Amino acid sequence: MIYSALKGVQDIMPPDIFIWQRIESSARAILYNYGFREIRLPIIESTELFIRSIGETSDIVDKEMYTFPDKANRSITLRPEGTASAVRCYVEHNLNTLQSPQKFFYAGPMFRYERPQKGRFRQFYQIGVEAFGSAAPSQDAELIIMLKNLLEQIGLRELSFEINSIGCEACRPDYKNALLAFFGDKLGEFCPDCVRRYSVNPLRILDCKVERCIQLRQGAPAVTDFLCVDCRTHFDELLGILTLMGVRYALNPNLVRGLDYYTRTTFEVTSEHLGAQKAVAAGGRYDRLVKEFGGPDTPAIGFAIGMERLAALLKEISPEQTPAPKAFIATLGKEAEKEGFKIAETLRAKGHWIEQNYGDATLKSQLRKADRINADIALIIGENELQEGKVQWKNLKTKEQGMIEINNVESVLTDVIQSPHP
Ligand code: HAM
Repeated sequence: MIYSALKGVQDIMPPDIFIWQRIESSARAILYNYGFREIRLPIIESTELFIRSIGETSDIVDKEMYTFPDKANRSITLRPEGTASAVRCYVEHNLNTLQSPQKFFYAGPMFRYERPQKGRFRQFYQIGVEAFGSAAPSQDAELIIMLKNLLEQIGLRELSFEINSIGCEACRPDYKNALLAFFGDKLGEFCPDCVRRYSVNPLRILDCKVERCIQLRQGAPAVTDFLCVDCRTHFDELLGILTLMGVRYALNPNLVRGLDYYTRTTFEVTSEHLGAQKAVAAGGRYDRLVKEFGGPDTPAIGFAIGMERLAALLKEISPEQTPAPKAFIATLGKEAEKEGFKIAETLRAKGHWIEQNYGDATLKSQLRKADRINADIALIIGENELQEGKVQWKNLKTKEQGMIEINNVESVLTDVIQSPHP
């Protein structure tokens, strides 16, 4: 083989693609019911956009971006996530002038130069949602409940919802100081990344995955003990609505998230079936970002679902559902092949998936092929059938067979739909 896909990048093919399509169509239907409308965002943006929003001290900006100069020497980055582009889009098109809130979703590939492993890719796909304009806790609750419904509707169970509030500009400085004091005297024992995080953004230490750092941060002050009155009230109201609506969640004060733009609510959905990369979806509030991008003060909240992880979970729990053609048209001879082609086109125009024979092949091999591709029916046209203006049909599941007038062939197909397979 001369070429293979790049490391951490994969082809998504049948039969897996059918799971992906099922996820996408269920997700679309549910998101529409909550008033989210699709936007298609560019895959390339200026590098500055991600630095300003995700933050210079984040792992994504620091180590993981696919950044390159274009031919005019502008610094371009393959998007590592969708929120920054969604905010740019909101500000650029003055969407604040429209009815509030403005609710959007997007689906597509993201790129992060991470160390590939199970559930972690360099090109991966997200379905993301963003709601602009409401600071109310009920908006947070709506998103979390919508995410739960979406995942359950797709077929997932046994998911854990973790939730936290990381406060706002008013209360976070006190919390940062408490963390600096807590980590200060044992700083030398942390990993080199955490030592750097200590001086640039101590909250990041809570997100470190190194076992030693996890041990060392036991007993660290909890962000929720430092919330100002407004953030506390917002968080309590959100938790109250979730409880009222029967959402089971766990509070996780270490859930600070790896992107700098978050304020107040953060949340993550995890599954123990996924191994080390167990977050299926994650998100939170980012009430400052629209303003930082030059727009009016606009609260916002969103989340993104990781498609590869969701598809892996679904594959584990639900049997493969590979679609199959309704009919295979077997033909013997040039004239029959032409007639078969005409019938195939007529049936396809009526909405059926039809496969046909190409060129010379024995009837036996054609029927074997029809079986192998799991067609419901074989329609057979030979010289006799041509003369009589009829088609021989054979139900490949029940083994029933018969003859039907050429211009009435569709009735055989629709009868099969009504009689389920044994
Ligand atoms: P994130 O936590 O970086 O958040 O990514 C969201 C989800 O994308 C993760 O929970 C995971 O399922 C999936 N994911 C992330 N990185 C990878 C990877 N390398 N391979 C496979 N899957 C991955 C965001 O991206 C935010 N933009 C979410 C958000 C939207 N917050 C507010 N609005």
